[in-house]
Amino acid sequence: EQIKKGNYDHYMQKEIHEQPDSLTTTMRGRLIRGGGDKVKGVLLGGLKDHLKTIRRSRRILFIGCGTSYHAGLATRALVEELSGVPVTMELASDLLDRQGPIYREDTAFFVSQSGETADTLQALEYAKACGALCVGVTNTVGSAIARGTHCGVHINAGCEIGVASTKAYTSQIAAMTMMALALGEDTLSSRNRREAIIDDLFNLPNMVEEVLKLDSDMKVLAQELMDEQSLLVFGRGYNYATALEGALKVKEVALMHSEGILAGEMKHGPLALVDETLPIIVIATRDATCSKQQSVIQQLQARKGRLIVICSKGDANVMCPNGGCRVIEVPQLQDCLQPIINIVPFQLLAYHLTVLRGFNVDQPRNLAKSVTTS
Ligand code: G6P
Repeated sequence: EQIKKGNYDHYMQKEIHEQPDSLTTTMRGRLIRGGGDKVKGVLLGGLKDHLKTIRRSRRILFIGCGTSYHAGLATRALVEELSGVPVTMELASDLLDRQGPIYREDTAFFVSQSGETADTLQALEYAKACGALCVGVTNTVGSAIARGTHCGVHINAGCEIGVASTKAYTSQIAAMTMMALALGEDTLSSRNRREAIIDDLFNLPNMVEEVLKLDSDMKVLAQELMDEQSLLVFGRGYNYATALEGALKVKEVALMHSEGILAGEMKHGPLALVDETLPIIVIATRDATCSKQQSVIQQLQARKGRLIVICSKGDANVMCPNGGCRVIEVPQLQDCLQPIINIVPFQLLAYHLTVLRGFNVDQPRNLAKSVTTS
């Protein structure tokens, strides 16, 4: 039943709208609400015997390709915060190209929707030979990466058909957030923070349902942008990943040049591109970096940039006090969960742009769902 389109025109559209359910499935049986003699927490069966080793590792590596790499990037800061272990990001092909050093004291996470991506699989063989503990984060039970790793977490997002990953991305972030919570569970000082995140995880499917209501707004925006050549996306902190992933969605399905940019690097080149015509999306939801994003918006406005600002509900006047930019307001959760909310408008935008531009939504030109050759 899951592999039928139902009332939707395309699988990608169906998979975008299914996210409240896929996220529920990802978290099912893994979140403990607490109360009575139960402590609020998470339970990840496939990891529980290895948590101690992971906490003691000298470094954690997140290894993946494409969207799966972005999911690692979105959770990197939280894993570092709650585990105290530094996290290094690795694109699988680059790790292999340079044969980067990996040690026995490292824990390497292999993030892959299909569990079959050739580069990620080869990186797994390489890390295993180096003696690292290898952990799989996949959506496919019995896949090569699930079988080849020492332990792991299934993200349980359900079958994903559209070549552009949508629901698997949000489920990867949810699963890796739970992993971060499990890694931090013996640290008393982070207890309030962990409990606040767990409370918001319970609330997450409803919030995603809420943000999906932006569908018609994003269609209108797509109509405005459909003839553009290029689109920039500025993010930072937790939402640097959102900028990269949002731009990737637009690029891969709508076949429009799009670039995700770390806002902190704006002055080191991208600013030269800004004029009255080039559309720029700035992600500026509430978190520790949003005052910096406010200043980015001001600087872009001073150069007459054509801005679309994504901010938390009620923040439109704060983030864009002088008007002049289009604002998209989204529901606010704990900062580390915001990438799950913030990517949804981009998924919707990419979808509508693709339909309007007349391209194949589910099978983008030249791309494959699973890249099984290097
Ligand atoms: C391909 C797909 C992407 C995916 C990437 C990694 O490029 O089109 O959607 O993110 O491979 O795939 P994996 O299955 O390893 O997550």
